[in-house]
Amino acid sequence: MLEDVQKGLEGVLVAESGLSSIDGDAGRLIYRGYDIETLAREATYEEVLYLLWHDELPTAEELEAFADSIAEERELSADVLETVRRLAASGEEPMAALRTAVSALSADEPEPDADPEDLDATLRKGRRITAKIPTILAAFERYRMDEAPVDPHPDLDLAENFLYMLTGEEPDDIAAETIDQALILHADHGLNASTFTSMVVASTMADVYSSVTAGIGALSGPLHGGANQDVMEMLIEVDESDRDPLDWVKNATDEGRRIPGFGHRVYNVKDPRAKILQARCKELSEANGDEKWYDYTTTIEEYLTEEQGLVEKGIAPNVDFYSGTVYYQLGIPVDMYTPIFAMSRVGGWVGHVLEYQEDNRLIRPRGRYTGPEEAEWVPIDER
Ligand code: ACO
Repeated sequence: MLEDVQKGLEGVLVAESGLSSIDGDAGRLIYRGYDIETLAREATYEEVLYLLWHDELPTAEELEAFADSIAEERELSADVLETVRRLAASGEEPMAALRTAVSALSADEPEPDADPEDLDATLRKGRRITAKIPTILAAFERYRMDEAPVDPHPDLDLAENFLYMLTGEEPDDIAAETIDQALILHADHGLNASTFTSMVVASTMADVYSSVTAGIGALSGPLHGGANQDVMEMLIEVDESDRDPLDWVKNATDEGRRIPGFGHRVYNVKDPRAKILQARCKELSEANGDEKWYDYTTTIEEYLTEEQGLVEKGIAPNVDFYSGTVYYQLGIPVDMYTPIFAMSRVGGWVGHVLEYQEDNRLIRPRGRYTGPEEAEWVPIDER
């Protein structure tokens, strides 16, 4: 006899993992034992990728070789660039374009026939995908703006190079550090919906292009990665309403609106990543001499937590609540926020695929059948 249905797999343990762990009551996140605060302060995104994919922190030489191996794989083939151009010209959404382009990348894969059990080959493929996602996204944005894509800069790190390809100019230190930090914060987060999706695909021993493509699809939804864009759109709505943000949020909650960027299946307290991004948002606001967005977010947060008592219900700001205002202040288009999340989370997807396939077991749960046990067949012309 099967146990009760665990809707949404809430609280169900399906795998063991050494990549990351969340303490939802303490508001703590670690990657392989290192606090997210330490990693955000001390590491680079490439260093975090190495940690996730190789179990331990790299030495300086290892990191240099690893970062170079990613930088070498940034360029897209003419065919993939043309696919990206067409997607931009057709007005496709960036997440849908990314999903299609990542799937198209497999046609250029130099090891297409590698044995799926060859995890070194999977790692190399994962590295190629990770290296090319920023190039896809920047090229998509450039084509949308009727501008030519910018070739990757071999001497810049992944975050800096992304901003360089997006704008055609080398970013200043604050912008480069902010994006690098955002990538670190989003790189892994236990068995979230998109990571689990990637693992389900990997558990069939399908290749990592399929896992990453599926992960992008899962991340795109408003209950997952899509929330960062929704938060910024909400703040723009507040701004354009000409209402005081406090009035706006009171009215929104009276109407029963679900506030994006609040609530999380695992955290019962404020997400530690939100705290780090909140501090970044404040810094950028002060540097720009315009604290409007920071004020809107903090006013909404205070009202929801103190007046509406959402915190008592375990509903607190998640990572998406502050990432939008950070990206907005860097001049990044609002619909690129979720793709930036994907650009980072690919590190987690690839890490979990590698870890799961090392001791693979097909993921195949059961559903409780609620249809009739017996039905009498009626020929079509008699129905
Ligand atoms: N605003 C207002 N109330 C909320 C919110 C919110 N953002 N989130 C949850 N609640 C309330 C629900 O209305 C519900 O109240 P009730 O018990 O009185 O009916 C209660 O909190 C529980 O909500 P569930 O949807 O059952 O919680 P669940 O754990 O399934 O959902 C989720 C988590 C999907 C993230 C939810 O909080 C949500 O929709 N948040 C907004 C979207 C969002 O920010 N997503 C990003 C998540 S983080 C990430 O993916 C990176």
